[in-house]
Amino acid sequence: LNKVRLEQENERKEASAQIIQASKLATLGEMSTSVAHELNQPLNVIRMAAGNSRRRISKGTADLEYLNAKLERIEEQTVRASAIIDHMRMFGREANEELEPINPRAVVTNALGLMGEQLRLAGIKIVTEFSEDCLLILGHSIQMEQVILNLLTNARDAMTEREGEKKIILRVFEDDKSVHITADDAGGGILENALSRIFDPFYTTKEMGKGTGLGLSVSYGIINDMNGTLVAENIDGGARFTITLPSVS
Ligand SMILES: Nc1ncnc2c1ncn2[C@@H]1O[C@H](COP(=O)(O)OP(=O)(O)O)[C@@H](O)[C@H]1O
Ligand SMILES: [Mg+2]
Repeated sequence: LNKVRLEQENERKEASAQIIQASKLATLGEMSTSVAHELNQPLNVIRMAAGNSRRRISKGTADLEYLNAKLERIEEQTVRASAIIDHMRMFGREANEELEPINPRAVVTNALGLMGEQLRLAGIKIVTEFSEDCLLILGHSIQMEQVILNLLTNARDAMTEREGEKKIILRVFEDDKSVHITADDAGGGILENALSRIFDPFYTTKEMGKGTGLGLSVSYGIINDMNGTLVAENIDGGARFTITLPSVS
């Protein structure tokens, strides 16, 4: 009997890992627009630096100091571009099982590094309020990042067709035992009859092809595996999602 139970447990773990991976790939798809934009930035700088240098060379006015500065700039920008690509790659990989101490502010900052540009292009203002303390949490940074990306995507979707200021406020703060991360939006809030179901797998109010209904259920599972909680509530004008995780002492 024990053996059967163990097998069932292993199957459950396997299935849940597959769902997490599938949903991560969906998030990755979401992000590709954003990443294309982030990559364009360094490429533009590189093209300009190269173009200016060539012009000076052909005019015969390129001194070594000038060229050196331009080449330095090009080097710098390729480092930036590789960092963006490395991050994407890491995000696509399957997470290992071990929990490790991670910095919640870095996780939020990394998520914004991947999606910030896309949100700004959608006219959404992003405000971050990080308290000074900096306790660590035990978790998987990439999975944790996926949770933040899911919350940002949902906030964006909720605000897409709305009038008025579009804004997401991300806060990280702590008390003696826990770290809290909240995401507030101005998307009008969660429908009253949906509140009790939003964490169910495949529950979505979005049209076919837009929503999978997996974002919140996967996020809930990830936070739960890290011994934390994910809670939704409506606030003035929008929704608030709160992640609470035990801090590493
Ligand atoms: N920030 C939000 N504001 C309003 N409703 C939300 C928000 N986040 C989630 N929801 C509701 O919860 C549902 C489930 O979300 P999710 O699990 O991420 O799936 P999906 O985004 O694919 O619909 C959404 O369809 C939406 O109805
Ligand atoms: Mg979603």
